[in-house]
Amino acid sequence: MRKSLVVGNWKMNGSLASNKALVKSLIATVGVDSAVDVSICVPAIYIAQVSSLLTNQAISYGAQDVSIHEEGAYTGEISVGMLSDLGCSHVIVGHSERRQYHNENSELVARKALVAQQAGLTPIICVGETQEQRQSGNTLTVIQEQVAAITSLLSEQDLKAAVIAYEPVWAIGTGLTATPEQAQEVHQFIREQLGSAGGSTRVLYGGSVKADTAVALFLQPDIDGALVGGAALDATEFSAIISAAG
Ligand code: PGA
Repeated sequence: MRKSLVVGNWKMNGSLASNKALVKSLIATVGVDSAVDVSICVPAIYIAQVSSLLTNQAISYGAQDVSIHEEGAYTGEISVGMLSDLGCSHVIVGHSERRQYHNENSELVARKALVAQQAGLTPIICVGETQEQRQSGNTLTVIQEQVAAITSLLSEQDLKAAVIAYEPVWAIGTGLTATPEQAQEVHQFIREQLGSAGGSTRVLYGGSVKADTAVALFLQPDIDGALVGGAALDATEFSAIISAAG
């Protein structure tokens, strides 16, 4: 039985004051016995702040990217050890914005997932096709290539503990959401690609998820929760998405 997971991806948003208000509102709605695992992935500079706000709370927290290097002369980078040091449980790797704006390829993404797991962090590994790739009928080929990079590097045990997020690039921040059937088709395919680990790995959907679209998505058998961007910045909306997953 896979427990539902809802993750907020704050992207490059927030301030000390707005973070505090948002986290306090979330704490008020997410009880310690929540039927849903909830995590927020915040800008690295605010990890220490959310760490102190979330002491003894059910909501876990993490980062949006990580270096493959352990330490040393990598200006601007942040290591898995540093994330662990601040109590992070999760880290997003391979978000399409990293793939697009920072030229991250599937092999690098898989290496990030591996170093994260070696440090005891849960990687949330993002995969997804562009609009052009979907329109040309290449969705499953693209997903297969992205997932193959992960399965070639991670052990079965690591794959079971990892989280995959299917985020069609055309649905991110656009207000367009994959239909539940479109998402289910890809989620099922991802699970098949994971082989014997597939039944255990949590596979989240991401891309303009809102409370009103979440319900039908979460009814699909292979959708275990959501990676939420814009709506994660609104406590009421994010809480409603969490409720829908419960
Ligand atoms: P969105 O972002 O919910 O704003 O579309 C999702 C994501 O990029 O993780």
